[in-house]
Amino acid sequence: MKNSLHHIISASQFKKSDVFRYIANARRFRTESAESSVSTRFQGKTVVNMFYEPSTRTNCSFQAAAHKLGCNVISLTEAASSSKKGESLEDTIRTLGCYAEAIVLRHPERGAAHRAAKASRIPIINAGDGNGEHPTQALLDVYTIYEELAAFGLNIDSPLTEITVCFVGDLKNSRTVHSLVYLLGLLANVRFIFLSPKSLEIPQMLADIQIANGHQVLINTMSLDEALPLCDVLYMTRIQKERFATEFEYETVMANRRDYSIDGERMERAKQQMIVMHPLPRLDEIAEEVDKDPRAAYFRQVENGLYMRMAILEQLLEIHASIYVDNPMHANSSSSLSGEQHNT
Ligand code: CP
Repeated sequence: MKNSLHHIISASQFKKSDVFRYIANARRFRTESAESSVSTRFQGKTVVNMFYEPSTRTNCSFQAAAHKLGCNVISLTEAASSSKKGESLEDTIRTLGCYAEAIVLRHPERGAAHRAAKASRIPIINAGDGNGEHPTQALLDVYTIYEELAAFGLNIDSPLTEITVCFVGDLKNSRTVHSLVYLLGLLANVRFIFLSPKSLEIPQMLADIQIANGHQVLINTMSLDEALPLCDVLYMTRIQKERFATEFEYETVMANRRDYSIDGERMERAKQQMIVMHPLPRLDEIAEEVDKDPRAAYFRQVENGLYMRMAILEQLLEIHASIYVDNPMHANSSSSLSGEQHNT
């Protein structure tokens, strides 16, 4: 293998063909899962779930995915780790590389996954680094959009199709939005509508990339009520209290939360052929009454996460195994990852 390791750190590392291969494999796992529950394909392989920030979906779906592929799982939280005694992230990663074939890392610091990859001799999967990125969420999100819009006869891969995707909420800190905007811009013709409180706007650099790639970008040029009839995809997010410096700043933003929330009445403005997504967890930005609306896709999105993470682990474990076969000495060397080397 030319490349040393195949970490998943950023959505920007993917090519269009990578994403469609993951989607095809996730679809295969969906079909296979309906027929059998556990494979023995990767028996004896171990995946470490290293979660230094809370998680329900990413943690549990990676665990379920690993088990369904026949892997063992080691779970490590910050509270139970020697980081509490002052051990560095790099030393923890070097240690875990002695026990496993891949590390799924969630960490509160932006850039932590990249740091971990530089120290690691096994693949690192970024499961969310602070307010940076969440590339595996973006993969399951594009899988969901692809499947759901195909049911309306919209093929996002067609150059003749333009879709309108409206992102709502905390767009400054939402790592899922940061990764998904990149992937959508890669895969489809998109009119992006970004709606957020002024202090939580989408990073200008991300918007600029989409404009440079020929997509239409509208930042806070209309209200949610005005945007709803235009949407093929409405992507809601939570205002992330944990990212605010003070309670006062959070409460100031939350005072206007109705502008960034939907309920049954508001959904009447939306098209019948559209979907509502949310990476979850939600607070009150989507009223529970919306759950029974067939356009509410967020729990189907959760299920898609399982199949997408099976596809991701399968590919990494296969590549990792081939590296060991091609070059057993690799087991004793760390990755020399730089910005461009962490390809899938
Ligand atoms: N979507 C997502 O990352 O959810 P968790 O924080 O529960 O993993």
